[in-house]
Amino acid sequence: VRAGRFETERTYIMIKPDGVQRGHVGEIISRFEKKGMVLKALKTYQCPKAVAEEHYKDLSSKPFFGDLVNYICSGPVVAMIWEGPGVVKSARLLIGATNPLESAPGTIRGDLAVEVGRNVIHGSDSVESAEREIELWFGDKAGVVDWTPTITPWV
Ligand code: TYD
Repeated sequence: VRAGRFETERTYIMIKPDGVQRGHVGEIISRFEKKGMVLKALKTYQCPKAVAEEHYKDLSSKPFFGDLVNYICSGPVVAMIWEGPGVVKSARLLIGATNPLESAPGTIRGDLAVEVGRNVIHGSDSVESAEREIELWFGDKAGVVDWTPTITPWV
């Protein structure tokens, strides 16, 4: 999709229940805004088990799957769609490695977390995953906007 000067894509970003309860929503959103990504949808959501199971279905055979689903459903999440050039990969770089003890300082997980099972945030791992996850979490299109910032051409 072309938006202003950029060829853009979308990604699904979710602040997990620990990130919400620890008061990191503002800080996390701020990092995506500062980077230059565009917010296309945002909602708080108390996730039903079926949605968490579908979201993580590729991991259903893992020993941690049950704990992971319970964790995602343990409190409200903040579900978001972010758009921008290369946003899928860029968001993964901002988020950092899966295990927060291995995430670089300066990344969201590197700065805000210590446990793989409480790693604060999710970001889609590919453009295909992003489309699947956006359909899963925002399938009803509620709150999803179609807009391009009018200040996009910075120079
Ligand atoms: P994964 O998709 O491998 O990582 P990422 O979230 O970085 O894309 O795993 C999904 C989530 O599963 C991960 O964010 C945290 C949880 N998880 C564990 O609890 N234990 C583990 O050993 C792994 C690999 C993941």
